[in-house]
Amino acid sequence: MYEPYRIKVVEPLLHTTRRQRKRILKRVGYNPFGIPAEFVTIDLISDSGTGAMTSSQWAAMFQAREDFAGQTSHEDFVTKARSITGFPHVLPVHQGRAAENILFKTLLEPGDTVAANTHFETTRGNIESIGCRAIDLPSDEPPFLGNVDVGAFEKLNRGRSKVKILVMTLTNNIKGGQPVSMENIDDAKIAARRSGTLLVFDASRFTDNAYLIKEYTKSRNSIGQICRRMFRAADILYLSSKKTGLSNIGGLICVRTKDLYDRLSQEIIRQEAYPTSGGLAARDVAAMATGLVDSMEEDLLRAHIGQVRSLAYALKQNGVEVFEPVGGHAVVIVQKAPDRHAAFALAAAIYLESGIRVGVFDDTVRLAVPRRVYTDKHLAYTAQTVSRVYHKDLPHLRLVHKPSEFYNFFARFTEIAQRKV
Ligand SMILES: Cc1ncc(COP(=O)(O)O)c(C=O)c1O
Repeated sequence: MYEPYRIKVVEPLLHTTRRQRKRILKRVGYNPFGIPAEFVTIDLISDSGTGAMTSSQWAAMFQAREDFAGQTSHEDFVTKARSITGFPHVLPVHQGRAAENILFKTLLEPGDTVAANTHFETTRGNIESIGCRAIDLPSDEPPFLGNVDVGAFEKLNRGRSKVKILVMTLTNNIKGGQPVSMENIDDAKIAARRSGTLLVFDASRFTDNAYLIKEYTKSRNSIGQICRRMFRAADILYLSSKKTGLSNIGGLICVRTKDLYDRLSQEIIRQEAYPTSGGLAARDVAAMATGLVDSMEEDLLRAHIGQVRSLAYALKQNGVEVFEPVGGHAVVIVQKAPDRHAAFALAAAIYLESGIRVGVFDDTVRLAVPRRVYTDKHLAYTAQTVSRVYHKDLPHLRLVHKPSEFYNFFARFTEIAQRKV
């Protein structure tokens, strides 16, 4: 199967010398997030906001009028988002974590409990910053490794503090984007209704979830039909459109009642901007509207998930152990030594060898594939390089800065010696 698009604009790849890369690594404390992008040749640190847009998205951006309120692009965006999600009320926001902040501030009181299949870092951060508890209840039922443990949720609810919100992240960002099954969504909905818990979807990679449901269950339904069926279960839905939504910035919140819509609008005006912009330029809202519609194309999903799988396959062929089943947006390498320093050491060694940047999440190295950006040859080269480095001795790192929060993004190290792994 070939890519369902052709390339119109290209960016030259940037090359650096080993000496430059060694200097940069030292300067940024061996944390890949600190490396200036101009010194990165192939960037697999995130699939978020890093995809290539279509000519229709760029055209929509150019045509959008910048007004303070009542923007035309807002009208169009709301119409499209309503039809994709089935929710009556839609609010644009500037990205996923803005949606989390606005939503949780509006719905939670200090001391409340929120459960999830697994909280993404910013989701947890936004919940805990209000003084609430964020509890992970992952389940382990292949191939739907993103499922929430509904039994554990019910047990938690029988305890002293009731669960106010149950968040289901579709796909679950753990291990490169693991899907949640329709059965699990239905079970969670029944359990949440029974206990009066709000069921909230973080749908940042919802089309990946729909694609994997379709594939694993051999469903004949279209991606659009599966999405509507998934979304029927949720009381509230939010997403970052920087992932499968195919835009470089943006997000949204969808709710079912006018009352909640009004309360959220007030919070949005306090924090972001007039609610018809959600803190975005009108042109960004226009790109987001077009991206959301494009994101339902099954061929695009097949091409992107296919690239992720080819990368995993090439790594495995070269003796690199990867987490399986491979998720929707990234390949996760199983560490030879299970400690965070080893993951940072591998990421640093990959960068030093090649200028390829990978991410470190939860003690593992993650290769996230941006949508429509790199060719199969880029990824074949990545697999070769990563495999070569994986089998070598890694630098030995010592932690010199431990941040109070968001360890992966801000930890810094120094190199102290070579060690055998
Ligand atoms: C599952 C999930 N939720 C929320 C977010 C936050 O979205 P944003 O980066 O747009 O703020 C992310 C970002 O990677 C994510 O993966």
